[in-house]
Amino acid sequence: MNSGEVKKIRDRFLKELEGSKSPSERKKICKRYIEEELSSVFCCLKDLSGENKAKVGKAANELRQMINEKMKESKESEETKEEWLDVTLPGKQPSFGGVHPLAKLQERCEEIFAKMGFISVEGPEMENEWYNFDALNFTPDHPVRDMQDTLFIKQKDREKLEAKDKLLMRTHTSPVQVRYMEKNEPPLRIIVLGRVFRNETTDSSHDINFHQLEGLMVGESISVANFRSVISFFFKELFEDSVEVRLRPSFFPFTEPSFEVDVSCTICNKKGCSVCQKTGWLEVVGAGMVHPNVLKSAGVDTERFNGFAFGVGLDRIAMVAQEIDSIRLFYSGDLRFLKQF
Ligand code: DAH
Repeated sequence: MNSGEVKKIRDRFLKELEGSKSPSERKKICKRYIEEELSSVFCCLKDLSGENKAKVGKAANELRQMINEKMKESKESEETKEEWLDVTLPGKQPSFGGVHPLAKLQERCEEIFAKMGFISVEGPEMENEWYNFDALNFTPDHPVRDMQDTLFIKQKDREKLEAKDKLLMRTHTSPVQVRYMEKNEPPLRIIVLGRVFRNETTDSSHDINFHQLEGLMVGESISVANFRSVISFFFKELFEDSVEVRLRPSFFPFTEPSFEVDVSCTICNKKGCSVCQKTGWLEVVGAGMVHPNVLKSAGVDTERFNGFAFGVGLDRIAMVAQEIDSIRLFYSGDLRFLKQF
């Protein structure tokens, strides 16, 4: 090793620095030269002797000083570059949010029912067994209480608790009927819009949660005819179309008599298609005249008052209206889906 070799390193360094494109690249070159090239020069100093050692040492020190200065310069210009703001560049386009298709449908339902004097009320998504089942006239051994359908909340010594303390995720919006009637005197007209939960295996038409629209009207001398006109008006407004409505007998513990309501298929106009499974009708509502036991659980005078109630699956309606083929898309958070609405 001699001072000529140190000079060669210096020349190579300057040449590389000249060819570099950015301050950060220059900084990297300086670092590499200090850590690799210069440190190997300093390493072999101990094996050199006399005058040569002094010359190489001096040249290496000078080179180190130069590299350090260049490194400092690069650092400074890197910092000023980061701070520099080009105010003439076009701004970043913010992406706008939108209203979820289910939320839009809920708003529309509120509007339509408001025209008929129904107010919109809420209830808790985490319910207790009493409101979800007992108060709605479900017998203790009713199969819907089975683990298959309901998501129960884990609680210590659960079996020892009262029904009102046993928690679960509500399986329907019907418990809000009782909650509301306990605090409000008839006559009353309410709707409840909300999320419900089921312990379900998911597929294109089932998910562990979905949305319901519950309706309740209680007063003096309420009849099935009143229900029929309310639900017919709702669907006619919603589909802005001449849909037909039909009632079929059914069973629910909390209504007597109970019925299932079908609306004529808006996709095929009753001709029969894959959405209505070739029947021409869509099953979308469960309903009935409120069972006296339910009114009694809420402390309503059953001699004087009666009423009707109904529950609508909103996801199914949104799917039919918007031609969406899987319920899971609603809950996927996938922007490619959501941006279409
Ligand atoms: N709660 C029922 C369900 O989830 C739907 C329902 C049926 C609601 C009849 C009602 C009703 O209010 O009267 O399947």
